[in-house]
Amino acid sequence: MKPEFISIKEAMKKGKGGVAVRGWVHRERGSNALKFIVLRDSSEVIQCVFEKKDFEKQWNEIDKLQIEASIKVWGTIKGDKRAPSGYEIHAEKLEIVGKSEDFPINKDLNEELLGDRRHLWIRSRKMTSILKIRDTVLSALRDHWHKKGFYEYHSPSILGMQAEGGATLFKVDYFGKPLYLAQTWQLHAEPGIFSLEKIFTIQPSFRAEKSKTSRHLTEFWHAEMEAAWENFEYLQDDAEEAIKEIVAKVLDKNKEELKILERDVKKFEPVLKKSFPRLTYDEVLKILDDKAKMKISWGKDLRTIEEDKLSNLYDTPIIVTRYPKVVKAFYMKEDPKNPKVVLGFDMIAPEGYGEIVGASEREENIDKLKKNLKAQGEDPSKYEFYFDTRKYGSVPHGGYGMGVERVISWICGLDNIKDTMPFPRTMTRYSP
Ligand code: 4AD
Ligand code: MG
Repeated sequence: MKPEFISIKEAMKKGKGGVAVRGWVHRERGSNALKFIVLRDSSEVIQCVFEKKDFEKQWNEIDKLQIEASIKVWGTIKGDKRAPSGYEIHAEKLEIVGKSEDFPINKDLNEELLGDRRHLWIRSRKMTSILKIRDTVLSALRDHWHKKGFYEYHSPSILGMQAEGGATLFKVDYFGKPLYLAQTWQLHAEPGIFSLEKIFTIQPSFRAEKSKTSRHLTEFWHAEMEAAWENFEYLQDDAEEAIKEIVAKVLDKNKEELKILERDVKKFEPVLKKSFPRLTYDEVLKILDDKAKMKISWGKDLRTIEEDKLSNLYDTPIIVTRYPKVVKAFYMKEDPKNPKVVLGFDMIAPEGYGEIVGASEREENIDKLKKNLKAQGEDPSKYEFYFDTRKYGSVPHGGYGMGVERVISWICGLDNIKDTMPFPRTMTRYSP
C-alpha cells in the first residue's frame, strides 16, 4: 500500500522507512546521474535524492525542475549527517504537480523589488517563520483574555469621528459623506462594557502615518481590551501578563523559527523573570537627564530617540505612567492627585522597538471630556453617543491597545515592521 502524505516534519519524526511528502522545490542541483532537490513544505525542508537509473523515463523532466515547482515524492527516509536537515529521502516515485520557471526572487533583490514581489516572497523561510510566530502571538493573546473571562467583541471600522487625533485620519467617501477609518475600537468598545464588562478585540486599525519609519504601518492589527470596574494598576498588570504570556508561548512553540531568524533568545529571560519597571513620566525625565544627558522640558511627549535611549537602559519592557495631559488623548482620566497628568501609560519594548502598548483609565466627567475635545478643535456634538456611557450608570473603567506588529517585530528581532505582515501597508507601499 502507498503511504499517506505526511508533512516533512512528520516524516523526519518517523525517521525511517517509506514516506510520501509534497511541497515545493526550495533548491536544486544535479549531475549526470543524480538530482538533489531540497523540498519545502509549511513544516520543514528536506533533501530528496533522485537517481537517474530509477527514473529513466522522467529524467528529462526531473533534470529541468526549477525552484518553486510543486511536486509529490514517494521514497525512503533515513538519517544522513551530510544532509542539510539531518535527513534525506531516497526518491522512488515522483509526480510533478505544477511547473515553475525562473522564479523571480533571488538574493540580489533590494527591499523595493521584494516588496513588489511580496506575493512570492512570503514563501521564503524567513517570512514563513515570522508568519508562524505571528500566529502564536495572536493565539496567546486570545488565550490570555479568554482565561480571564473576557469576551471577544467587535467595533466598526468606518466611523464619524477621531479618537487619537485628527492628523492621522483616513477619510472615506461614504456615499458622499466624509467618514473615517477607525484608529482604535475604543469609543465603540466603552459602550460594550455595560453589556459584557470585560472585552477584547484583535482587528485592524488605520492611521494615515506620514512617517516612513521602521515601526509605522498605515494598517496595523490592534489588540485592545476594555474592562469595567478595574483601575490603573489592573491595566498595567494585565498588559505585563499578556506580554509575558506571548513571549513564553513563542519560546515554547517557535524554537525553530527563532533559530531561522537568528534571534538571540537569551534576551527574553529577564522579560519572563523580572517585573517590568513602572516609572512615572517625571522619573523618566530625571533618568534621561542623569544617564543620557537628554534634557526634555516638562510637557513634551517622549520622542523616538528618547524612548530608544530609555529602552536601552533596561532589559525588559518599561511602563511609563502619568504623562502630561496635553500630549495625550481626550478620553484619558485626569489623575485626581495632579490634574496636569493623566492615569495613562505607555509600555516601551526593549532593544529600541518603541511603544508597544498605549493605555488609560477613562475620564468619566462629561464636561472635562467636552473641554478636552474643544481644546483639540473637535466638535463635541459628534460624541453624544459616547457621553451617554457616562450618563447611564457610569462606572470606573479603562483599557489599552497593543500594536500586534510592534510586538512581533520585537520578538522576531526584525529591522522593519513591514515583515511582520504578509502584505504590509505604509505611506508608500500599498501593492500588491
Ligand atoms: O497608543 P495608541 O494610539 O492608543 C490607542 O489607540 C488607544 N485607543 C488604545 C486603547 O486604549 N484601547 O495605540 C496603541 C498601540 C501603540 O502603543 C502602538 O503599539 C500601536 O498601537 N500603534 C501602531 N502600530 C503600528 N503602526 C502604527 N502606525 C501604529 N500606531 C499605533
Ligand atoms: Mg500611544
